[in-house]
Amino acid sequence: MGVAEPTDWWRDAVIYQIYPRSFADSDGDGIGDLRGVAGHLGYLSELGIDALWFSPFYVSPQADAGYDVADYRDIDPLFGTLADFDALLANAHGRGLRVIVDLVPNHTSKEHAWFREAVAAEPGSAARERYLFRDGLGRHGELAPNNWTSVFGGSAWTQVDDGREAPQWYLHLFDPAQPDLNWRNPEVIAEFKDILRFWLDRGVDGFRIDVAHGLVKQAGLPDWHIKSAELEGGGNRGPMWDQDDVHDIYRGWNAVLAEYAGDRILVAEAWVAPAERLSRYVRSDEMQQAFNFDFMTVGWDPVGMKESIDRALTTNAAVGATTTWVLSNHDVVRHASRFGLKDATSWPRGIGAHEEQPDAALGLSRARAATLFVLALPGSAYIYEGEELGLPEHTTLPDDVRQDPSFARTGGAETGRDGARVPIPWVADAPAYGFSPTGATWLPQPPAFAALAADRQEGVEGSTLELYRAALRLRREHGLGRGALEWTGADAAHLSFANRGVRVLTNFGARPLPLPVGARILLASEPDAVVDGALAPDRTVWFAQ
Ligand code: NOJ
Repeated sequence: MGVAEPTDWWRDAVIYQIYPRSFADSDGDGIGDLRGVAGHLGYLSELGIDALWFSPFYVSPQADAGYDVADYRDIDPLFGTLADFDALLANAHGRGLRVIVDLVPNHTSKEHAWFREAVAAEPGSAARERYLFRDGLGRHGELAPNNWTSVFGGSAWTQVDDGREAPQWYLHLFDPAQPDLNWRNPEVIAEFKDILRFWLDRGVDGFRIDVAHGLVKQAGLPDWHIKSAELEGGGNRGPMWDQDDVHDIYRGWNAVLAEYAGDRILVAEAWVAPAERLSRYVRSDEMQQAFNFDFMTVGWDPVGMKESIDRALTTNAAVGATTTWVLSNHDVVRHASRFGLKDATSWPRGIGAHEEQPDAALGLSRARAATLFVLALPGSAYIYEGEELGLPEHTTLPDDVRQDPSFARTGGAETGRDGARVPIPWVADAPAYGFSPTGATWLPQPPAFAALAADRQEGVEGSTLELYRAALRLRREHGLGRGALEWTGADAAHLSFANRGVRVLTNFGARPLPLPVGARILLASEPDAVVDGALAPDRTVWFAQ
């Protein structure tokens, strides 16, 4: 295979996220699958990315779209088989694409054999010790053991249905269908090392670690007074997040990966602040990358973006790590829609038909400008499937098709993440826009997807797809991911920097910005970006001098 040499490849890698249920459906059941992905590998390698990250495809009742795993060592029949995975991996490797899989260690599904065993077992048994079972408070144990809330809304505790008089409660930081594991239990630690080896033996290049900051809880599980602490902006050092002991786990995993040739990586999904705390996850003996989610929270704002970039580069450099840049993923409103809101720094938890509708054209211009800005930064960049087509959020999904548990658990107060997970349009004039041969789709696609279908953009100058392709090609040619950033200007209306001879200018203001005399344009976020030597608002340009 063409990707075995150790190269620290992740330091500047562009990694494309595949959300399997929404990428491409080969068998017509309306849910994407691994063979569907195989059918589009040519598209992916032509895009110019370095690696694929697959959101979970393991056996799962799909209570949280696969982030509730019932068997970590097999593929859910919805998505295919292990043989399909092996074939896909070989095919990807043959094209020089690395493959990262998702590991979900904070919780299992409640259908996992361990949890079934725990429910059937006695309180205090070894089977219950793999999870966080506790007796309830109150005279009859009828009150939850502490006041923690679930990230998806409601209590983080559910009383187990075991037929006893005063059933115990189990902890779930997410849905009740996702019981949290007890990471102070050596059996849990051993099991996950074994799961890592299972996938490393198959040849995967790394793991994206779900809820990496949540595995270890503070001893005694004390009450905590911040709701949904995971997603609070400032520091979130609640007793369920970012405990110092969690790092021992990652040191152990780093050692497991080191047993294997070929530069395998761990990527932390850790909603941790401040940045210094996040950088602890990428110390040299822990993970290789951590998602830097700042661009999701600061929005279209030059001041916030510059601060975040400086902070990320400094804190990562202090531990010798690379920085990652992320504009969208399956958990947030797509950036083409976030940036089209009146307040383009807002960060809604989904957008519904009754809420403010984004300005699609403005959002797309800004999204393209933001992407071009980000792809010129040194470090590693993530692309969420469909952003290369300029896809917006589906902002008018009917409530009765919503599947994100956060919608139901908050009684609809949170619209949820379904709008970012709508099946990809491949062919404008085909059923389901080419997503599935039968026209079935697990979520309806908005009519706006027709004009954005991949076949309408391939080879079309000025299309978002061709912009991504060109940007990724130039990024590679100039080695921008391995370069260094030097600011050349920053104020409330613009940001500009240089990296390896490429100058980047983004106009966040309302007036055109003159380019320096002699600027030679390499790439612009829109065909009309530069008029009479000046960069129009909401545009980015790369140029040389
Ligand atoms: C983060 C994942 O990205 C999200 O989709 C999931 O719901 C939670 N972790 C729980 O696993």
